[in-house]
Amino acid sequence: MCGGLMFNTKWTPDLETGIDDVDQCHRYIVRMINDAYDGFVVGINPESYILDEILVCMSQCFDYELMLMMETCYPNFLAHRDEHELFRQRMIDVHSRRNKEGNLTIDLLVILDHWVNRHIRECDAKLGAYVGELSAPEGMCRTA
Ligand SMILES: [Fe+2]
Ligand SMILES: [Fe+2]
Repeated sequence: MCGGLMFNTKWTPDLETGIDDVDQCHRYIVRMINDAYDGFVVGINPESYILDEILVCMSQCFDYELMLMMETCYPNFLAHRDEHELFRQRMIDVHSRRNKEGNLTIDLLVILDHWVNRHIRECDAKLGAYVGELSAPEGMCRTA
């Protein structure tokens, strides 16, 4: 997954899905967003690579969740996938909203933060609950 993870002090337990790889990636994304926000607060504009790092990490997380949903025959697969795809579309918009130095802007950061928080709480939490209820291998996808 995303690698180089550190505990995010602003991470709250209600953001946990219970799926370790997903939570690790979410924590990393939330930490990067918070760090960038903290930078803005003290007048330091985040480096341009931060936005790319956040978006790449989100994309990896989407792919992993997609694989997990397919493996477990997740019933809300289509709706969840559509949310990810809608966000991928918005990433294109995100790139067009960079300032001339290519840096993150504060409004962009707020949009990212809101989306990530809402998606984790509303969509990823449901996936986590579903996966948590499965008792592998009996609970896994059956082909009969
Ligand atoms: Fe998701
Ligand atoms: Fe996610």
